[in-house]
Amino acid sequence: MAEFRTIDDLNVIGKRVLLRGDLNVPLQDGVVTDTLRLDRLAGTIFELAERGARIVVISHLGRPKGKPVPELSLKPIAEALSKAIGGRPVAFAGACIGAPAEAVVGALENGAVAVLENLRFESGEEANDPEFAGALAALGDYYVNDAFSVSHRAHASIVAIAHLLPAAAGRALQAEIDALERALGNPERPLAALVGGAKVSTKIGILENLAGRVDSLVIGGAMANTFLLAAGMPIGASLAEPEMIETAGRVVAAAKRAACAILLPIDAVIAPALEPGVTSSIVPIDAVPPDQMILDIGPETTQSLIVAISGWRTLVWNGPLGAFETPPFDAGTTAIARAAARCTRTGILTTVAGGGDTVAALAHTRASQDFTHISAAGGAFLEWLEGKDLPGLAVLRKPG
Ligand code: 3PG
Repeated sequence: MAEFRTIDDLNVIGKRVLLRGDLNVPLQDGVVTDTLRLDRLAGTIFELAERGARIVVISHLGRPKGKPVPELSLKPIAEALSKAIGGRPVAFAGACIGAPAEAVVGALENGAVAVLENLRFESGEEANDPEFAGALAALGDYYVNDAFSVSHRAHASIVAIAHLLPAAAGRALQAEIDALERALGNPERPLAALVGGAKVSTKIGILENLAGRVDSLVIGGAMANTFLLAAGMPIGASLAEPEMIETAGRVVAAAKRAACAILLPIDAVIAPALEPGVTSSIVPIDAVPPDQMILDIGPETTQSLIVAISGWRTLVWNGPLGAFETPPFDAGTTAIARAAARCTRTGILTTVAGGGDTVAALAHTRASQDFTHISAAGGAFLEWLEGKDLPGLAVLRKPG
């Protein structure tokens, strides 16, 4: 983390710290159904509170497009955040700038916490508007970004504000960066990446970047079908993107040039349809009948990946290997996640996972608690896998 300013660089006692969190958490009937992002933010809040800061948490929720939307108020999340920080009170301001925010922030004592209303109720947020950023900055003495998962957005509370106040990375952001650095920046080799999910078209940038950086690239999920098509295999009635065959060929060629092994399924679990209770069977990958769909990797593929994993030292994981929401097509993802978890537990493998449906897929396997790091980010993790420099991190870097 030498590259980034952190809260170690700030003398926060008695100071107002604008803490950009990601309170964009799933809500059902006003109840937070996954508190991971709140629990991660809690560590930074505890530390700042202990050091006597006045903590002003700012965040977005959903995509209200610059207008107040009552269902996207952060009020219920402020209550959930209070629970995540051991029941300490959390004040709430009904606007993120102006008089209501000033009143709540002005009343904070050292060590106390407030949450301001959804930043995206203001059009200046997504526009990265310097005037809006100025109004926010007036509420703080320091700015701390603890929201890796929003750092791919050039928004006012991520980028413009970091030019107006002394800015630093919070502990959750630091942990994400450290893990990502261990995974792709400066990894122990052999380094492998597992990329699954439905579509090549949504992950072209990721596949191209990884093909040039990793030693082995496992491709799973329906996106593997497009690669099988490109290799001239019959894939029956499986989901695929024939218009992406050329792209798949490009990825394979780039991998070859970089001496990266591409690992595709060698057998498959197939069925006539993706339905619960449907009759499935196992076939070699070159024997998929025309009326059947590939819905998971087969046992031989699973076995060969388990053997391969024991030789890897770092594994980056994004996306499921099969149609994991519909058993039995979760078996491949589960077996591979458990093998990766076992190697992580014994200390031979570093495992970093994140992005989109990955966290849900891995939670389903009940193996993810043993992974080295599960990112709390969706889109930001994917952009990082593409090798992009995220704007929210660029502004936190120490000059020189
Ligand atoms: C996320 O959930 O990935 C972040 O909160 C970013 O949300 P956004 O995609 O609406 O910018």
